[in-house]
Amino acid sequence: MNDGPGSSRGAGRAEPEQPEGQRPLDVHPAWLPPEAFRAIGSRRTRVLGDGPLVETVLSEVREACARYGGVARHGGVMGHGATGDEPDDLILVLSTVDAVRDFVPAGQPLGEEGFTLAARSGVTVVVADRPAGLLYGLFELVRLGEAAFRPERAPESHRPAMRRRMVDQWDNVDVHPVMGQVERGYAGGSLFWRDGKPRRDPDRLRAYGRLLAGCGVNAVSVNNVNVHATEAHLLTDRLAEVAEIADVLRPYHIRVHLSVSFASPITLGGLPTADPLDERVRAWWAGTTRQVYATIPDFGGYVVKADSEGQPGPFAYGRNHADGANLLAAALAPYGGVVHWRAFVYNHRQDWRDRSTDRARAAYDHFAPLDGQFHDNAILQVKYGPMDFQAREPVSPVIAAMPATRLAVEVQVTQEYTGQQRHVCYLGPQWSEVLGFRPWGPDGPAVRDVAASPGGAASPGRAHDGGGLVAVSNAGDDPFWTGHPLAQANLYAAGRLAWAPDLDPTAILDEWIELTFTPSSTGDPDLLRRSLHEVMDGSWRTYERYTAPLGVGFMVRPGHHYGPDVDGYEYTPWGTYHFADRDGIGVDRTVATGTGFAGQYPPPWSQLYESRQGCPDELLLFFHHVPYGHVLHSGSTVIQHIYDTHFAGVEEVRRARQVWERLAGAGLVDPAVDTRVRERLDEQLRCAEEWCDQLNAYFLRKSGVPDAHGRPIY
Ligand code: GCU
Repeated sequence: MNDGPGSSRGAGRAEPEQPEGQRPLDVHPAWLPPEAFRAIGSRRTRVLGDGPLVETVLSEVREACARYGGVARHGGVMGHGATGDEPDDLILVLSTVDAVRDFVPAGQPLGEEGFTLAARSGVTVVVADRPAGLLYGLFELVRLGEAAFRPERAPESHRPAMRRRMVDQWDNVDVHPVMGQVERGYAGGSLFWRDGKPRRDPDRLRAYGRLLAGCGVNAVSVNNVNVHATEAHLLTDRLAEVAEIADVLRPYHIRVHLSVSFASPITLGGLPTADPLDERVRAWWAGTTRQVYATIPDFGGYVVKADSEGQPGPFAYGRNHADGANLLAAALAPYGGVVHWRAFVYNHRQDWRDRSTDRARAAYDHFAPLDGQFHDNAILQVKYGPMDFQAREPVSPVIAAMPATRLAVEVQVTQEYTGQQRHVCYLGPQWSEVLGFRPWGPDGPAVRDVAASPGGAASPGRAHDGGGLVAVSNAGDDPFWTGHPLAQANLYAAGRLAWAPDLDPTAILDEWIELTFTPSSTGDPDLLRRSLHEVMDGSWRTYERYTAPLGVGFMVRPGHHYGPDVDGYEYTPWGTYHFADRDGIGVDRTVATGTGFAGQYPPPWSQLYESRQGCPDELLLFFHHVPYGHVLHSGSTVIQHIYDTHFAGVEEVRRARQVWERLAGAGLVDPAVDTRVRERLDEQLRCAEEWCDQLNAYFLRKSGVPDAHGRPIY
């Protein structure tokens, strides 16, 4: 297999020579290939402003100009060459420079990261109040390409909707015996550590930071939320390793956060307790955090998984999660840091025979009563659904239940339950649906408003900043970054949606295609774009079709979570998921006769989910146990829906493979990319067929109802 990164660029275009001093990385350029800087690099650009981030902008422009023949200058007078040379085409300017006020009318303050883009008389200008805005303005120019250089362009201001746009790496320092170097990592090893030691590959890390900044991410939590013994030391005697990472990411305006163990005062501090109300414990966290900020002055804060899947937490001391989160929030507050406290708390040792325990209820039951008790710099990090990153779940009711708490929405870019980066599964549409969901009904705010900063709509009773979007990263040291080259689009989309959650996921994909692939000068220039859309736009729904039906979830092989196993988790302590018997399937989560989970939503959703008739088809089995003959809104019965969607899902994968072959056959993709994608599409098809055959056989045997179309079921 040819796994070399190559270049994704199309055939037929000669690469300009590498500018001096630039060492090519042996890694795919993803959405920031040199060609994406062509429009900037062929112009005369002036950068006005000072400071490290302006230096980053300047060096980006200089590299582009060295490659494409433009001129990059620093300082001087706006609009004119300082020495009377040719006028500028592009000016990137901090608005502290006076002249800018004539150029771009004063408007709302742009804030820490915003910028205004305008063009007048053939000069394109990006104005920012702060250096970070200039950096994001540069990447907006990259996205626009030639279109940024229209002679006239009315001023257009951009500000991120969410203040914190974070990726969480689930990277281990030591290779974990079961989870490996990266927990749920499907893209090779960690970019930070290898075999217990820092990896120290600053070029690669810098390239990662650049890609993250290029899609709007501004925070990275560097280690796994499951903090094992070695990783715990990153907080104290191995803090220098975190500082090194922070140094490399800082030029791209990325702050580093750290996952910490709640038991640290015991394991690292030698105290007899980690009780959040114990003075010694408070003093230990205060002292330790002081040290962290002495080492990394712009440190972002802590991420904590407590009382969750075996991780230590406040329950051991009879305290609640607000006590736990506030302990760390208090230690971080003097330095402006935040604690991301995860709401993923449930009983993973339940007895499957006990039908009263419902994992879906757990986060709400634990956290909703604590609303209003968290400090301002404590952010409750809530998975988008009540279970665990399934292809289809209802939106977590916690998001609507805590108006007086800062909430961050957590999505899983690493494809643990969505094909593990062997399957094409573009998740932009899923996240967009979640962010657009209106928990209080059509006239209320959306999830994106809850996570956003002031400026967006506020949810009822909320007067404070939202917690942002957190994305579990899918990147590793794989030459394509993400295992499946097309999975890069998921990382890109997560960043873009955190910046602008109302962006259309198809438009985001379009941006990603445009940046990542340059169509060849020969052949159909639109074929590439059309084909990639055909393969990717609907791929999440395709994945849903050939896996667990109608929102029931799981049915994956226990442990690694790849491939079908209908009963894999049904009789385990982790929760019970489908209750299929000869008559029907689904979990009764109604208030009337089930676990009561549906009642955790505000109206109208509580009522819609409570009723079989009101419940949307795609979530029916999450909320109701129904007979196989139950007729869906679609007109199909549940059992026929299962058969139809599974056959259809396989056909859609087969079709995607044909589309890809046609595309690659036209010479429109780099051979290394083609080889990797083809190999993965073959596996996806094999796996989709396996899902289809197992699911259909299982339900035919359970129900005894034949397929209405007589297709082969084993
Ligand atoms: C899932 C996943 C774990 C992970 C956990 C989490 O359960 O399988 O590997 O640790 O989510 O989000 O904490």
